[in-house]
Amino acid sequence: MTVVRIPDEDRTLTEFVAISRYLGEIGIEYERWEAAMQLSASASAEEVLAAYAPEIERLKAQGGYASADVIDVKPQTPGLEAMLAKFNQEHWHDEDEVRFIVRGRGLFHVHPRQSPVVAIEVEAGDLIRVPRGTWHWFDLCADREIQAIRLFQNTSGWTPQYTHSAVDRNYQPVCFGPSYFPPGHAEVA
Ligand SMILES: [Fe+2]
Repeated sequence: MTVVRIPDEDRTLTEFVAISRYLGEIGIEYERWEAAMQLSASASAEEVLAAYAPEIERLKAQGGYASADVIDVKPQTPGLEAMLAKFNQEHWHDEDEVRFIVRGRGLFHVHPRQSPVVAIEVEAGDLIRVPRGTWHWFDLCADREIQAIRLFQNTSGWTPQYTHSAVDRNYQPVCFGPSYFPPGHAEVA
């Protein structure tokens, strides 16, 4: 379940229309890609890119993206802690951050200049585009597993630029999807 929370206003959005409208107002593009969800959990990067080729080509044409790759993270991924530590502090990029979630889940926090921080919990089937310059940070959920397609205008622009605001410390990196709750626990609506 995709969940958008605005912690400072104690609001939670779970409906696609409400989520895409709210995110659109703060400049975040959000889509659901329902096709090709039948990919196996062990699909290779090549298989993933092939399965979503039409959507990837459409995004490339729309956003000027030059390349796409697949990132595959599991709890046993070497260097995982160091990788996560690079992105869980507030930062921005000179590139759009475009992610399509193939498997697993993750938690983006976006800090708009004129409105409260938004926590966006993404899952398989979600496409999110965080425009260049947007303040944001990213955490994995408790299961520490995600496979995602990334699109780049120019990979050299994708280095994180830190704000050093420490705003990220005010928000818990907690996911509300099925991976967070033990079996039998009701999800937060
Ligand atoms: Fe980022």
